[in-house]
Formats: sequence, C-alpha cells, structure tokens
Amino acid sequence: MTVSADLARLAADIAIEAGELARRRRVEGVQIAATKSAAADIVTAADREVEQLIRRRLGRARPDDGFLGEESGAEPGASGITWVVDPIDGTVNYAYGIPAYAVSIAAVTGDPDPQRWTALAGAVFGVATGELFTAVRGGGAHLHTPDGPKPLHVNAQPGEAGALLATGFGYDPATHAGDLARLSRVMPLARDIRRIGSAALDLAFVAAGRLDGYFERGLNPWDHAAGALLVEEAGGRVGGIPGGRPGTELTVAAGPDLFDALVTAIDGR
Ligand code: IPD
Repeated sequence: MTVSADLARLAADIAIEAGELARRRRVEGVQIAATKSAAADIVTAADREVEQLIRRRLGRARPDDGFLGEESGAEPGASGITWVVDPIDGTVNYAYGIPAYAVSIAAVTGDPDPQRWTALAGAVFGVATGELFTAVRGGGAHLHTPDGPKPLHVNAQPGEAGALLATGFGYDPATHAGDLARLSRVMPLARDIRRIGSAALDLAFVAAGRLDGYFERGLNPWDHAAGALLVEEAGGRVGGIPGGRPGTELTVAAGPDLFDALVTAIDGR
C-alpha cells in the first residue's frame, strides 16, 4: 500500500468510529454548546467530543503530523502532513435530526492552507446512511459497499433537462442577498437545486454522480478538504473564484464538461 492509501485507511477507520460516537450522542439528545460566527452557526457538545476522539486517535497513530480541526484549532506538526478535520459537517442538520451529516477527515501535505496544500487522502462518512467515501491521490475515489469498494465517477455533460446542482447559504446573513443573486444566475443551467446542508456530502455526491455540480460561498477548509479530493479523484474539477482554488469566497465542483460554464454563470461577468 502507498503512504496515501495508508492515510486514507486510517482516515476511514477513525471517521467510522467518530461517526458512531456522533450517532450515539444524537440518540441521547443534542446539546447546543455555543454559537460561533453567527447565531445560526452552532456547535454542539458532540462536535467537540467527536473532534477530541479524532484528535486523540490521529495523535496516537501519527504523533508527528499536524492537526487543523473545526472545533479545536490548529497545531503544527513535524512530518509535513496535516490532518484537516470536520467532526460533524452538517451540524444544523444534526441538531434538528435531519439525517444528512458527515465526519470529514483529510490528510494534506505542504502549508495547511487550501490555497496551497496538496490533499493526499480523505474520508467522508455519512453517518446516518453508513456510507463511507474515500479518496487517495492518484488512486481514485471509492464508495465502500458490503460488496467491496466501488469506484466513483463524476457525471459527464448534463442532458437537455439541465444539471442537478447543490448549493448552500453560509451562516452570515449579510451574504445571503449575494448568494441568491448567484443562484439566479446559475438557474438557467439547472434542472433543479438541492440544499443538503453538509458540504462534505455535497462534494461526495458530485464525486458519486448523484449531483452534477455544487457551489457555495463561505466554506472553511475542513468543510471541503476531503470532499474536494473525492471529486478530483472521481474525474471532476474543483476550484474557487475563476482560475482559483477552492476557498472561502467560492468553492465550485463539477464534472469537467460542466465546470467552466458553472463558474462563468456564478461569476456573472
Ligand atoms: C456547514 C455545512 C453547510 C454549509 C456551511 C458549513 P458545519 O458545516 O457544510 O452545508 O452551508 O457553510 O459551515 O458548520 O456543519 O460543520
């Protein structure tokens, strides 16, 4: 096995264990622990506990690696590899009991900034469905089924009916008018729109061909680190503002035939 495949296996094992803890805590009752960037941007006690579990497991298995987590921040490492972790992506769904939330774990190399890093491996575990998606740089993206790993492929150019697209609306109310303007520019390309509520699942679904494309403003590095690698390894493209890499201003993912048209429509210039 390559180093990246080992990293993906570790990410997958820990994501499943972490997801099971999240699921147990949900059954026991969700406690909102705090709000973050806005009143709508919540953190539950489970987010914190699940991140601690992931951090402990990674620290034990790979003590020289760095860590960048949604809830507990950044710690540099010495190996050149950093783990980028969202313990519960889709926290609002989790709190409301909507079964669309995921554990997202990626290993990246280089400066742990999405403008510069290279993702090596990633796992997205859809906790409520039990679906595990993994990607290895240069080794493809897979959905793990009881019959074995199934390779993922993005969709080719959408047909006459248009593209099935997903998006999101971040937590900052000041940006919603701009998000809606973008959405109306994109509608001519769309057969319909989904707002799933977990960027990691949105990206996994683009990789799996369940969506033709996805775009959102306001994402954090941990929201897209693993999912973006899934899309690229499934043959798709991921970017940000025209010509850029995915980032807070914009994250776009789609099959190669749709990608440029989607970015142009979002940009509107
Ligand atoms: C959120 C989800 C959501 C997206 C938000 C993210 P969180 O992550 O991915 O779909 O719209 O921008 O912050 O807060 O649940 O980890």
